[in-house]
Amino acid sequence: MKVIKNSVILSQDYIPESVIGREEKLNELGELISGSDVSSTFVVRGNPGTGKTLIGKTLLKRLKGFRGAYVNCYINQTDRSIISTILDNPNIRLPEIGNTRAESLASILFKELKGRNNLVVLDESQSLKKAHGQIVYLLSRSRELGGPEIKLVLLSMEEPEMYLDRSTLSGIGKYNRISLKEYDANDLFKIISSRAALGLYEGAYTNGAISRISELAEESGSARVAIELLRNSALYAETRNVFLDEEAVLQAYRDFSPPLEDSSLINLEEDEILLLRSLLESVSTENRFKTSSIKDLDRNISDSKMYKFLKTIEVSGLVKKSRIGKGYSGGVENEYVLRVPPKVLLSKLSLMEKARKLPES
Ligand SMILES: Nc1ncnc2c1ncn2[C@@H]1O[C@H](COP(=O)(O)OP(=O)(O)O)[C@@H](O)[C@H]1O
Ligand SMILES: [Mg+2]
Repeated sequence: MKVIKNSVILSQDYIPESVIGREEKLNELGELISGSDVSSTFVVRGNPGTGKTLIGKTLLKRLKGFRGAYVNCYINQTDRSIISTILDNPNIRLPEIGNTRAESLASILFKELKGRNNLVVLDESQSLKKAHGQIVYLLSRSRELGGPEIKLVLLSMEEPEMYLDRSTLSGIGKYNRISLKEYDANDLFKIISSRAALGLYEGAYTNGAISRISELAEESGSARVAIELLRNSALYAETRNVFLDEEAVLQAYRDFSPPLEDSSLINLEEDEILLLRSLLESVSTENRFKTSSIKDLDRNISDSKMYKFLKTIEVSGLVKKSRIGKGYSGGVENEYVLRVPPKVLLSKLSLMEKARKLPES
């Protein structure tokens, strides 16, 4: 039976008209951006699938008085490629060489953006840590540097303290920050109900299927996971010629692994990748491990390094704390569960390591 009416609606890139449960935050942000404010950098932090990209793109769509630009910083990491994405004009030639000073790129950017209301959204901005660029500094201080007014929105999985240097941080202020909570089953139900209503045939799916998906995805708190499970379940039902009901969801869930974003791994240092590799090779069959498991993998690791590693893989969505432990003599013993099958992640790591070995282009 035909289940899927429009597969575009079931893709992650689809931008829905209504942003469920986040309208208040969106309006608040929109007003802050439009109203003149002393500081003009805004930070939206949230774990994967909490609606950051949706919020950024919706702001660009709704704030019509602005010249908007959207940049995915995982794809565009260097100052040069970020600036050329913002300018989005093949006729503007940026200096060729890689080591052009950021200031000379900035002067081209500032000249082009002059005299307009500019809104720049930098998505996946935690990816900027590795590039050691100056783009956030330049955009957030455009006025001080003699440039035009630029409103800057940083979307990231991590707090800016994790990926920006001190001089940049001191310019962006602490007060224009929004933290997105993970979605609960209720939110997820509303989100995928409206997706299903648009993307699936009426009568081809049951309400029970939708609530089952919401419950299964609640642990991740991620709309991305819920939508992916909806899509997989719909495909499952369609290929087997059955209704999309609870049973179809449960069947599809058996082979389901949550989508994993490359950008969640980018900030791992070389030695942390090695550590992650040995962790993956050693986890139990239930995909669980404890804080002290890290110590078992590397006897010499310092506590601060260990907690930073755990924090990084937790924020990135690779693992989730499943139990918060009491302190023991060596620190706090938490329990974690991997959210991605070790095999999937190991092959991803291999690909990443290969890519790193290739010379930078
Ligand atoms: N509040 C919401 N209402 C409707 N759809 C949502 C909402 N939040 C997220 N989504 C959808 O879930 C998917 C993941 O959201 P996204 O904005 O990409 O999350 P993030 O950028 O935080 O990882 C997207 O397809 C998005 O359209
Ligand atoms: Mg995103």
